[in-house]
Amino acid sequence: HVTRREDYTPPDWQVPEIALDFSLDAAATLVRATLHVVRDSAHDRPLVLDGGGQTPLSVKVDGVAVNDWRIENDALVVPLSGTDHVVETEVEIAPDRNTQLMGLYASGGNLCTQCEAEGFRRITFFPDRPDVLSIYKVRMTADKKRYPVLLANGDPVAQGDAPDGRHWAEWHDPYPKPCYLFALVAGDLVANTTTFTTRSGREVSLGIWVRAADLPKTAHALAALQTSMTWDEQVYGREYDLDVFNIVAVDDFNFGAMENKGLNIFNSRYILADADTATDYDFDAIAAVVAHEYFHNWSGNRVTCRDWFQLSLKEGFTVFRDQGFSADQGSAAVKRIEDVRGLRAAQFPEDAGPLAHPIRPDEYQEISNFYTATIYNKGAEVIRMIATILGPERFRAGSDLYFDRFDGTAATCEDFVASMEEASGEDLSQFRLWYSQAGTPRLTATLRQDAGGSRATLTLSQRVPVTPGQPVKQPMVLPIKLKLFGADTATTLAPERLVLLDGPSEQLVFDGVTERPILSINRGFSAPVVVETDRSADDLAFLSAHDDDPFARYEAMQQLMLDTLVQAAATGQADHKAVIAAVAHTLDDAALDPAFVAEAVLLPSDNFIGDQMALVDPEAIFRAREALRRDLGKALDVRWRAAYASTQADAFVYSPAAKGLRRLKTVALGYIAASGACDAAALAFKQFEAADNMTDRQGALGVLVAGDSAERVAALDIFYNRYSDNALVLDKWFQTQALSPRDDTLEQVQTLSRHRDFTLANPNRARALISAFAVNQRAFNAASGEGYRFVADQLIALDKLNPQTAAKLLPPLGRWRRFAEERATRMRAELERIVATPGLSKDMFEQASKSLG
Ligand code: ARG
Ligand code: ZN
Repeated sequence: HVTRREDYTPPDWQVPEIALDFSLDAAATLVRATLHVVRDSAHDRPLVLDGGGQTPLSVKVDGVAVNDWRIENDALVVPLSGTDHVVETEVEIAPDRNTQLMGLYASGGNLCTQCEAEGFRRITFFPDRPDVLSIYKVRMTADKKRYPVLLANGDPVAQGDAPDGRHWAEWHDPYPKPCYLFALVAGDLVANTTTFTTRSGREVSLGIWVRAADLPKTAHALAALQTSMTWDEQVYGREYDLDVFNIVAVDDFNFGAMENKGLNIFNSRYILADADTATDYDFDAIAAVVAHEYFHNWSGNRVTCRDWFQLSLKEGFTVFRDQGFSADQGSAAVKRIEDVRGLRAAQFPEDAGPLAHPIRPDEYQEISNFYTATIYNKGAEVIRMIATILGPERFRAGSDLYFDRFDGTAATCEDFVASMEEASGEDLSQFRLWYSQAGTPRLTATLRQDAGGSRATLTLSQRVPVTPGQPVKQPMVLPIKLKLFGADTATTLAPERLVLLDGPSEQLVFDGVTERPILSINRGFSAPVVVETDRSADDLAFLSAHDDDPFARYEAMQQLMLDTLVQAAATGQADHKAVIAAVAHTLDDAALDPAFVAEAVLLPSDNFIGDQMALVDPEAIFRAREALRRDLGKALDVRWRAAYASTQADAFVYSPAAKGLRRLKTVALGYIAASGACDAAALAFKQFEAADNMTDRQGALGVLVAGDSAERVAALDIFYNRYSDNALVLDKWFQTQALSPRDDTLEQVQTLSRHRDFTLANPNRARALISAFAVNQRAFNAASGEGYRFVADQLIALDKLNPQTAAKLLPPLGRWRRFAEERATRMRAELERIVATPGLSKDMFEQASKSLG
C-alpha cells in the first residue's frame, strides 16, 4: 500500500480534547481514552480511529455503551450522526511483549513510549496523523514500588495513593499537539534537576531522569540543555513555554531521541557521559541531540507538520538549528567538516542509489523508512542554502514570521519557504526544486586565464542526475561561494563572492588577473553538490596550504588524497609525493588548530573512495589506502611522533582545545602504527593503559584492533572485563572490532554475533555490530558473499522483533549496482531471499524491493 502526498485531504474528524487513563502493568495495561470528536466538514463518513495490536474492550458514545463498531484494517470504525460527540474506548495492551519499541513498551524494567511516527495507534484508537491537534489530560495508575515515578507531557497537576500498593498521577499539557508527541514514563528513576529562568522570567524545572546508578553521568546533558535554552532565545528568539522540562534516558530505543512535548525520551547513549565511559565524540553528540530535541519545541511542536511528507519541515530545520548551536560551542570549521563528512558518507550514497527521494517525498509505503539522511541532513543543507542566500538578518526575519504565523498549527514545507520569501522579498520559486528533485547535483567548474591578457573566465555548469521515478531534471539554484588566489603571490585575485547558478551553465569573467589564478570553490560547502574541477595536484596543494576558508582548505587536501587514491585503486600505480608534501606542510603549520589538522590529515574512507569510482573494487581501494597510510606514516615518522608528543595532556578536561589535542593524538598514533614501526603496539598499549578518558582509550584500542599484536588481544580482554556491565561501552567493544581492517574481520564478526552479550533485541547492540560491519567496505564486500549473507541473516532475524530497526540496516545491501557482476549477483540474491521471507514486515519489504529495482 502506497501513501501519496498529492492525495492529502484534511481530517474527517477533529479531536480538540482527549483524556487518557492508564492502568499500567508490564504484562497487561488498560487504556481508557475519552475523545471529544468534532466532524470537520460536511460529510457523512463514520469516525475512523487508527489502531494496531491492542485488544478492544468497550466503546461508548456520549456515555452509552455501543456495539455497532467494527475493526477494519486495525482501525476502529464507529458510525456517528451529528457533529459533536464524546467517544470513549477501553483497550488492553502488553508493553512487555512490544519488541518493536513503538507505542508503550518496557525497557530495563521501566515503561516508556515512542509514538512518532505512527506508534500512538498501538496505545489507543485515535486519528494517528499529525494534523489532528488535541489538548491532553493524562492519568496514570501503577504499582508504587515498581514504578515510583510517573511522568507525562506538560505540567503535573495532582498525585496520590491508590489501593493495593498502587499510586496515581495526573499531567496536563495545555498546548494542543498531534498524538506523535504524546509520551509517558513509569519507572524507578531519579533525576538530576535544576532550574532555568527564561528571558521573560518563567522559572522552568529541568530534570534528567535515569536509573540511580547512572545519575553521575547526567551533568553534561543537563548543562547542554541549559546552554541550548539560552542559545535558542538569543539566536532565534524562542523561549520555553511550560513550567517543566523533563528528559528520560532509556536503553532500548529505535533511534536517537524524541521531542515529546515537555517530556523528551532519549536513547541513553545520547544522555549518559563521563570521562571514563564516553568519548569526545559522545560528549559532542549528546550536546547536539539534547539541543536538537529541545529546539523541536518550536520547530516541530509549536509548529508541527501537516502530514509526514513534510517531515523535513521540522527535521531539516531542526538539524540546521542544532548544527548552528554546536558550531557556536567550539570550532565552527571543524563542525562544518564533520557535518559534510557525515552528509557524504550517508546522504550522497542514498541520493545516488535505489532509495533516493526528495527531501519532501511524493510517496511512501512505510513512513519509518523516511527518517533518512536525506530528510534530516540534506534537509538541513537546504535550509542552510536559504540562510546563505538571504543573509542572517533576512533569514531571522523569515524564521520569526514562520513561527509567528504558524504557531499552534500543522504546516507545510511550502509555508516555510513562503515565509522566507515574504519576509525577505527574495524570489525562491526556482529554489523550491530542492524540495522536489532528488539526486545530488554535479557542478563542473573550469577556470581559464585568457592568453596574454589579464582576464580569467570561469565556466560553471550543472547537471542533476536521474533518480528513481524522476527521469527528467530541471537546473536548480546553486549558491556557490568562490574566490580566486594568485599562484605566485598567494594573494587574493578576486575576493569571495556568492554566485547563484540557476541555469545549466554560466560564464563569469574576472579582470585584473595578472598571475595564474587558482580557484577556491564551494567554500564552506555552500551548496550540497559534487564539484568537478580540473585543478592540478599543485593547485590543490596550494589551497591546502593557503586557502583562508577552512572548509575549502580541508577540501583541497581531501581532493588531492582522493585523486591519488582513485588513481592508485584504478591503475595500481601510485605516486604519493604530493600528498606527503601537503600533509607535511599541514603538520608544520603551527598556526593551525590541532582539531583541524587532525581532520585535514585523515585519508578519505574506503567507502568515499569507492563512491568516486565507476565500479567499486573493495580490495584495490583497501590496498591503495593502506599503501598511502603506510607511506605517510613512514615518510613523516618524525612529525607524527612530534605531534604525538605535543598532544599529551595532564588531566582530562572537556574543552574544544583539549578535544582537538586528543583527536590529533590518536590520528598520529594511527599513522605511527601504519608505518609498521616496531614500537607502535607498545605505544598504543601504553596509551590504552594510561588513559584517564574513553577518547584516548578507545582510540588506542582502535589502533591495536587494526593490527596483530599480543597487545591487541590483551587490550580487548581488559576493555571487555572493565566494562562488562556497561552496555554503552560494550557497544564500542563490538563496534571497534566490526570496523577493523584486519583480514579476519568477517569471521570475528560472525563469532561476535554468537557472543553472550550480543542481542538483536537491543537496537544499539544490533547497530554496533551490524551497521559497523556494513560500513567496513572490504569486510562486508568479501568476494565470497559471506558478508552479505551474514547481514541478510541478521536482518531477517531482527525483522521478526523490530522491523523498523531492521529496515534501517538494509540499504548497504542495496548498493549492488555499484559493484561488478559477481558481487552484484550475490547481493541481489540476498535481497531476493529477504523479499521472499514469509511474514516479512512492510518496512523491510519496501526497502528490499526498492533496492532490487
Ligand atoms: N523526531 C525524532 C528526532 O529526530 C526522531 C523520530 C524518529 N522516528 C522514526 N520513526 N524513525 O528527533
Ligand atoms: Zn528531530
